[in-house]
Amino acid sequence: MNLQTNYLGLSLRHPVIAGASPLSATIDGIRRLEDAGAAAIVAASVYEDEALGEDAAFDAAVAIGAESHAEVTNYLPPLPGYKGALAAHAEMIRRAAESVSVPLIASLNGVTREGWTGIAADLQQAGAAAIELDLDLFHIPTDPRETSAEIEQGLVETVREVCKAVTIPVSVKLGYNFTAPAHLAVEIAAAGASGLVLFGRRFEPDIDLETLTFRPRLCLSTANDIHVPLMWISLLAGKTSLSLAAGRGVDGPEEVVKYLLAGADVAEAASSLLRHGPSQLNRMVEGLTEWIEAHGAASVAEIRGRLRADRFAQPEALLRVQYLRSLRLQRGALDNVRRA
Ligand SMILES: Cc1cc2nc3c(=O)[nH]c(=O)nc-3n(C[C@H](O)[C@H](O)[C@H](O)COP(=O)(O)O)c2cc1C
Repeated sequence: MNLQTNYLGLSLRHPVIAGASPLSATIDGIRRLEDAGAAAIVAASVYEDEALGEDAAFDAAVAIGAESHAEVTNYLPPLPGYKGALAAHAEMIRRAAESVSVPLIASLNGVTREGWTGIAADLQQAGAAAIELDLDLFHIPTDPRETSAEIEQGLVETVREVCKAVTIPVSVKLGYNFTAPAHLAVEIAAAGASGLVLFGRRFEPDIDLETLTFRPRLCLSTANDIHVPLMWISLLAGKTSLSLAAGRGVDGPEEVVKYLLAGADVAEAASSLLRHGPSQLNRMVEGLTEWIEAHGAASVAEIRGRLRADRFAQPEALLRVQYLRSLRLQRGALDNVRRA
């Protein structure tokens, strides 16, 4: 069985990779994901603002006392191994990349232009095989004068700047709130990126009814979350030069197979590994192998893209027909409820 696939120009032995999550935030965690069978691993993101916040907090802690005794900073002991949060993350990437044999993809969530480009260059220098730009939360468009075209231009410009700053492949993780994802994909490819991850996941806050404040919410995805990305992968496959990573709801072998049929190059799992543990990676690879065998094929390449939208005469009509059919199913279910 040949499970080999290519993603971002990297040759992977199979298409199941570990997405960015707390499981890939440490060297040990990254090693564990490799042992569990990941064909590539996306490290947890470095967040520019969070890293700078940690540095500012450290500086503030060091400065306590310096105000009352100006000379005190001269007597402070050498900083105990504190290199700055960004340097510490780059060091983690360097040591992790050295200790695994699968490609380690660094993930970056920047804020400033210098942050996006400078940190990306540092991550390359540290030995990352590629960089995934976490652009899901790139911009919260609250200004009613700002147009979607302006927002997309800003995003594409960021991708272009990063691609100029590094020579390793760059992938872009998007949210799906874009009016014209197909056009955006073309622009992102022209800006120099090698791949798209469809889609990231935001954790929009909830309201706490006792404290009357917003509170953070962590919600792991399930197989029910695949349908929007599944549709977009099918619609984009064959229409873009970008590698396509399925990045939402990869819970088990079935989702991996569905995404490959739609045209994905890899399936990137995060929630599933948090829920079931890293060994779920191996279960996905085994299940994928069994499915391919049971359906008379001998490789991932044979099944990839069989349900790409461009293989159908009129993809838009196909989607509309599916929509109308699902309405009919819903009406049927409603009739059953009424009869019961
Ligand atoms: C607890 C948790 C932490 C995450 N941390 C990151 C991160 O550091 N960087 C990132 O780009 N995405 C992060 N993600 C998003 C995942 O990488 C992934 O894009 C998203 O969860 C959708 O995949 P899933 O359906 O397999 O969970 C995180 C997700 C979870 C659940």
